[in-house]
Amino acid sequence: MKVTIDGLYKSVRGEGEVIPAGTEVTLEGWVRTNRSSNKFGFIALNDGTSFNNCQIVYEEDKIKNYADVAKLLTGCSVKVTGALVITEGAKQPFEVNAAEVTLLGDCDSSYPMQKKRHSLEFLREIPHLRPRTNTFMAVFKIRSVVSQSLHEFFRKNGFVYIHTPIITGNDAEGAGECFTVTTREDGNYQEDFFGKHACLTVSGQLHVEPFALSFGKVYTFGPTFRAENSNTPYHASEFWMIEPEMAFCDLKGDMKVMEAMLKYVISDILENCRDELEFLNNFVAEKKDLIAKLERVVSSDFKTITYTEAVEELIKSGEKFENPVSWGMDFNKEHEVYICEKIAKGPVFLIDFPKDIKAFYMKLNPDGKTVAACDLLVPGVGELIGGSQREESYEKLSARMDELKMERETLEWYLDLRKYGGVVHSGFGLGLERLLMYVTGVANIRDVQAYSRTPKNLKF
Ligand code: 4AD
Ligand code: MG
Repeated sequence: MKVTIDGLYKSVRGEGEVIPAGTEVTLEGWVRTNRSSNKFGFIALNDGTSFNNCQIVYEEDKIKNYADVAKLLTGCSVKVTGALVITEGAKQPFEVNAAEVTLLGDCDSSYPMQKKRHSLEFLREIPHLRPRTNTFMAVFKIRSVVSQSLHEFFRKNGFVYIHTPIITGNDAEGAGECFTVTTREDGNYQEDFFGKHACLTVSGQLHVEPFALSFGKVYTFGPTFRAENSNTPYHASEFWMIEPEMAFCDLKGDMKVMEAMLKYVISDILENCRDELEFLNNFVAEKKDLIAKLERVVSSDFKTITYTEAVEELIKSGEKFENPVSWGMDFNKEHEVYICEKIAKGPVFLIDFPKDIKAFYMKLNPDGKTVAACDLLVPGVGELIGGSQREESYEKLSARMDELKMERETLEWYLDLRKYGGVVHSGFGLGLERLLMYVTGVANIRDVQAYSRTPKNLKF
């Protein structure tokens, strides 16, 4: 019978269909390693259904083409038929005693991924082959589970999933980091495809807000693009963002959703991606404390400090920062790291930022200087989430846009929401890749994306 390696593991654990010892099974997969003596040999086979391999034992007097099988190279694809043997070993609870091994696709000896450990930098140059390594199998499995888990969290909590557009006429964050979309060489946007300047979205927020004023709780989840020329381990030019938006919800309610969402997703992978997390914990995470860290996050309460308190603490610390701290500045990575690793010692909500370093749509606090915004900082990554209560007053938002000399024309519709049944509402943006870095312990954003896009990097 045709089986998968995952099916075999489930069977020996007593989950799902039970496949008795001695059953003739057929597997298809890729050879991870192959070693042999003149009498018998072992293939570590992976078929992608399980993080773990299946050991194939082949013996000279049991298969026809022993010499050929002994020569099979790492990376080739094969079909194996043989008897299932239950070994009761802790690491390999079963193996397959081969009766037949057929080569499906040979692998040239130039295959760059041999049995030794390769650096992540080296593997970044072969993004089409690296999915076959343990590290990337773990990362991309977790990426898939995390994405589905986020959808599950929002669905269970009554959120409606909205697909916001990729092509847009406005720069949501107002930071001027848009990639232009054009069919012309001359930059004459009036004559261009849309008859105006168009760009790739930097955030789905503005487009999802109108749906929150209909369904109450909504979210968008898709790719976003930023032409920000920062070559850091934390910035990508294309990344995925989850953006919930909730009506009748203030900043406090917003933060509750952020915390519940993260705990839900982390609990899910702790339960369902155990093999992958153990591998990452032991071989990728810097201090081998990944699982302990994730378990702590699930059981702890996130702390909250205001921007102003953080400034005071940073100054009081006496720490020599490259960028000196003063009220009104936008924090750099070094400050974020200090705040969550030294002051809060875990995930921390930083709230009430000066209005001048935040986006135009944020709700002005009664002090007239700060806005009801919140960044969630986590150790090792820095800013994981950025969110805020939105300004719901037509007059205040309109005045703020004028103050910032923003083009009203492209955003008149956004102001309309404040005219027609507007309510207190809030939302946030979670960078999927930043979350993946946090939960996998992978230190560079380029290694949690299938094909990363960063400045001067578009080979694949
Ligand atoms: O803080 P940001 O810019 O917020 C917004 O875009 C809001 N419109 C969100 C909202 O309220 N709906 O981005 C949100 C998150 C950041 O906290 C970070 O995790 C991620 O998106 N992010 C990036 N991730 C990878 N590469 C980049 N260049 C990123 N820029 C932001
Ligand atoms: Mg931000």
